[in-house]
Amino acid sequence: IKFLLLNGPNLNLLGSREPEKYGHSTLSSIEQATEQCLKSYQIALDCFQSNAEHSLIDKIHAAKNNDIAYILFNPAAYTHTSVALRDALLAVAIPFSEIHLTDPKLREPFRHHSYFSDIAHSVISGQGAKGYEIAAKQAAEYILSKQA
Ligand code: DQA
Repeated sequence: IKFLLLNGPNLNLLGSREPEKYGHSTLSSIEQATEQCLKSYQIALDCFQSNAEHSLIDKIHAAKNNDIAYILFNPAAYTHTSVALRDALLAVAIPFSEIHLTDPKLREPFRHHSYFSDIAHSVISGQGAKGYEIAAKQAAEYILSKQA
């Protein structure tokens, strides 16, 4: 079983990017912790970050052929703008979790709407870096329970 961890724009800067909001963990430490967490379920993890919408769309399309069972996704600012990424997820019909380090609902009004929440298998917000592990655990238990 294989999952995909997808991170959107500016998340490559985690660790130094507004640490008072996003914390001090780097993206690579988050990727490693998520991979480690899934290893205990014998699930492999493919990680990808891009600042470009089209690259994220291409990765979602490729997930179908790569037998990805579940996508862990922080769409970052595309959360609030991208019909194209929403459509890509609907097209491949792979269950996904929407993850945010902060809780966008408690921030500026332009962050209150998400193009993903109503179609996501789960939404984890405002838990900082550990939100990725929470989402990974939920996803692993869901996929393993479907297989049983
Ligand atoms: C974010 C929240 C978004 O509103 C913002 O644009 C981000 C990060 C989060 O993880 O809290 O880039 O997705």
